[in-house]
Amino acid sequence: ESFKVAVFVGSLRKDSLSRKYAAELARLAPPSLSFTTVEIGNLPYYDPDADNETAPKSWQHLRRQIKDADAVLFVTPEYNRSIPAALKNALDVASRPYGQGAWNGKPGLVVSVSPGGMGGYGAAQHLRQILSVVNVPVMAQPEAYIGNADKLLGSDGTVNNDATRKFLELVMTKFAAWIAANGSR
Ligand code: FNR
Repeated sequence: ESFKVAVFVGSLRKDSLSRKYAAELARLAPPSLSFTTVEIGNLPYYDPDADNETAPKSWQHLRRQIKDADAVLFVTPEYNRSIPAALKNALDVASRPYGQGAWNGKPGLVVSVSPGGMGGYGAAQHLRQILSVVNVPVMAQPEAYIGNADKLLGSDGTVNNDATRKFLELVMTKFAAWIAANGSR
């Protein structure tokens, strides 16, 4: 059985560490998983007044991409001990209209990335809290807080040591099993 995973990167910058880890996680995942990155940088702020027949096309496109996926993967930096605003906006946009949330029931994985020692722990916790209300069953264990993230990558942007590579591989193997056990098909 194979599963489509929609990937959300919390950072918008070109040289993002989070984006590099997202790519590495896709490379290290079992072949049963395929990955598509969903871009969130150009979504207008969510405004319920604008959510009608003339709603921004980008909102509809976001919701469609999530509904078409079997699972969702979040790879995000921590901004001021929480998640970046662009990611929160995407979570909000795709949670509406009320009762039609695109996230509903999609198995999820949270990976936080930071050059600091705490690995984006605060962002990961906030994200788990939000995902609970939009009804994403998030894999509890293993947790993936990638601290010192800049030092664990080589100049080619891939992980430069076996311990980290093995850990990320384990996380993705567990995630594949989590999707199989908790997905809707
Ligand atoms: C940060 N950074 C940061 N790091 C951290 O570990 N905890 C934090 O609370 C914050 N807060 C924060 C706020 C803002 C506005 C910025 C721009 C940055 C530093 C952050 O981890 C670092 O810039 C990462 O490189 C960002 O991830 P990407 O863009 O490399 O994926």
